[in-house]
Amino acid sequence: MKIAVLPGDGIGPEIVDEAVKVLKVLDLSFELESAPVGGAAYEASGHPLPEATLDLAKAADAVLFGAVGDWKYDKLDRPLRPEQAILGLRKHLGLFANFRPAICYEQLTHASSLKPELVAGLDILIIRELTGDIYFGQPRGRRTAVDGHFPGTEEAFDTMRYSRPEIERIAHVAFQAARKRGGRVTSVDKANVLETFQFWKDVVTEVHAQYPDVQLDHMYVDNAAMQLVKAPKKFDVIVTGNMFGDILSDAAAMLTGSIGMLPSASLDKNNKGLYEPSHGSAPDIAGKGIANPLATILSAAMMLRFSLNQPQAADRIESAVSAVLSAGLRTPDIWSEGTHKVGTREMGDAVVDAIVKTTKGITKS
Ligand code: IPM
Ligand code: MG
Repeated sequence: MKIAVLPGDGIGPEIVDEAVKVLKVLDLSFELESAPVGGAAYEASGHPLPEATLDLAKAADAVLFGAVGDWKYDKLDRPLRPEQAILGLRKHLGLFANFRPAICYEQLTHASSLKPELVAGLDILIIRELTGDIYFGQPRGRRTAVDGHFPGTEEAFDTMRYSRPEIERIAHVAFQAARKRGGRVTSVDKANVLETFQFWKDVVTEVHAQYPDVQLDHMYVDNAAMQLVKAPKKFDVIVTGNMFGDILSDAAAMLTGSIGMLPSASLDKNNKGLYEPSHGSAPDIAGKGIANPLATILSAAMMLRFSLNQPQAADRIESAVSAVLSAGLRTPDIWSEGTHKVGTREMGDAVVDAIVKTTKGITKS
């Protein structure tokens, strides 16, 4: 099994180091190969997604990704900006299905900005379509307006679009995922205003006919944003487009206490995937050794489960994370009075220790 390791920018390298440490202690035979991506790759070779990095990602069985981006690249032409690396990987690897679970660990109920009773036991799954929508729609650009409110002035435009097969395949992913959990899907759209999302709603409804055992409801995105902070536990699986999914998944992440806790998986049609924390590169805290590595460590667990067929190893990582939280260890983003503040490396070491301890337990019994 070959894993491409792409640390990227900002806190990316620090948190990926911890996830790699955790993978290595599992005693499975992986080959890990690293390559630069994002701003780091731009600095090294003039492009955020060098050919060699893309080739490595294509050849690997799975990709472990850190984060990309830094304000210092904001002035570059868009094709050279770090974000193009992750967008390019999603596009070239066909990673259309993005899983963003938002689980509130019992130990962190008090770290959420919402009242504990609203988030205790929260377990929702956002499935975001990842290779279509206004993110990738053409044409886009700047031009002189020929109509609208101010003809003759400069304007910018993007194209929101979804084809039937794109909606069908993500709808299947959502219904199948719901079958393995609470059996409910909420499809989030803006059908009251946008043609693209009326079509989305119609196609999701059609696909639903093949899943009579799954309950489907539809919600407008503005209402979904409100319900996420009002009564998040009412959701089971949320399926939505690329843009709405980007926004709602950040909101959902915060419900769990910190975006530093949220893993994600982006899969192609064969379940090959790229695994990354849901948070970004956080350049403001890069290099300080205080970033929370748990989202990346949990992403490595998702990788073992979804792409590498090692569900038991995934369970071991997840139990270890739960154990260190129970022991009171907290990076600053999830710290509260009475818990023990640790840095990135200490947190990673603690997860490794917890895995080693359970391994010994297994051998003994
Ligand atoms: C995410 C990020 C990306 C996105 C950026 C970095 C391009 O916000 O993965 O949610 O918008 O998809
Ligand atoms: Mg985002």
